[in-house]
Amino acid sequence: MPIAATGKGSPVTTGDTRMIEFRGVDKRYPDGTVAVDQLDLVVENGKVTVFVGPSGCGKTTSLRMINRMIEPTSGTVLVDGKDVMKQDPAELRRGIGYVIQQAGLFPHRTILDNVATVPLLLGWDKKRARERAAELMELVGLAPEMAARYPAQLSGGQQQRVGVARALAADPPVLLMDEPFSAVDPVVRESLQDELLRLQSELGKTIVFVTHDIDEAIKLGDKVAVFRVGGKLAQYDSPGVLLTRPADDFVDGFVGRDRGYRGLGFRSGDGLPIGELATVTLGSSSKAARAEAGDGWALVLDNDKRPQGWVRGAELSTDEGAVINSDQLIAGGSLYDTSSDTLRGALDAALSSPSGLGVAVDGSGAVVGSITADVVLEKLAAARADEDNT
Ligand SMILES: Nc1ncnc2c1ncn2[C@@H]1O[C@H](COP(=O)(O)OP(=O)(O)OP(=O)(O)O)[C@@H](O)[C@H]1O
Ligand SMILES: [Mg+2]
Repeated sequence: MPIAATGKGSPVTTGDTRMIEFRGVDKRYPDGTVAVDQLDLVVENGKVTVFVGPSGCGKTTSLRMINRMIEPTSGTVLVDGKDVMKQDPAELRRGIGYVIQQAGLFPHRTILDNVATVPLLLGWDKKRARERAAELMELVGLAPEMAARYPAQLSGGQQQRVGVARALAADPPVLLMDEPFSAVDPVVRESLQDELLRLQSELGKTIVFVTHDIDEAIKLGDKVAVFRVGGKLAQYDSPGVLLTRPADDFVDGFVGRDRGYRGLGFRSGDGLPIGELATVTLGSSSKAARAEAGDGWALVLDNDKRPQGWVRGAELSTDEGAVINSDQLIAGGSLYDTSSDTLRGALDAALSSPSGLGVAVDGSGAVVGSITADVVLEKLAAARADEDNT
């Protein structure tokens, strides 16, 4: 069987993954307000990190300390390993796109010129800047005929796309987005979120995204930082871990608020798409197992197709005669019983598996395939959308 995509659970093995780092960062305003309190946090390269929390909890302040629009009172903010306070702010910001609510477009410039703003500032000639702008408009899904219009002649959702295109114009490795979609209606918002995920799958930027909507955070974030008022980081984890293992009552309440992610435990896993996974049998040829697993993981089964543990393809012997034995196995997590379990069982299986693929079994305990956290969360979102519409 071929190996299913490893998705968000795949381990990163090369290079430094830290793109932005907060080390013991405080921000106190002159009136004594503590906006950010001892923030320690690493934003990974090429991932979407979401800052979420109630109004006034320090999300915007934290975000703006990355591009030095706000300076920390104490502690250090590093971008790509360098202290932002030791860099020229203009230079720093060249590598950091910034998108805000209401897009913040220049009202008296055309859409094309709005998008071309940064390249022009960087000294590109007009023709090249406009060509780049036209390319970006296409990338974010804006029709070419909008190029000559002014911001007021666009819908809110279209304006946000222009804001995203403008921030991407100089191809910065880092993109900061402060509640970029909060001024548009829910339907447009959802399509902008989908677009952002599509863009990100192509561009692989390091994105820090601020919202106070937990659903948006769960949908967009590879990692989510939940802040509480007083500028304290309450929890920083992947969406799946936040949902199933909230660090405290505050996070539990925030995550579950109104919507009941705890409802996971009441929703059947029926209809959940089961993916493939590489499997090998205990006692079979190690060399063949390695061919089956490739660079990824393979699940080891006994003769009744019951899961015994995992092996990594790259670690298997290619010696003739070597076989898969039980000493080599890496213990698996919980199993998802497709005949009886809820979405919660499916999510637990995915999160507890060393490979990132949860093991799905039938009522007799035989392996039928795999399940990922993403698939479970999508199913949950779809189920909730259905409920909202009825
Ligand atoms: N210039 C300032 N002087 C004093 N206090 C400030 C200043 N700017 C922000 N604050 C305070 O710092 C705290 C954090 O503000 P921040 O804008 O970071 O919150 P936020 O999480 O982005 O909130 P929201 O969701 O409402 O945008 C708030 O209590 C705010 O009132
Ligand atoms: Mg804010």
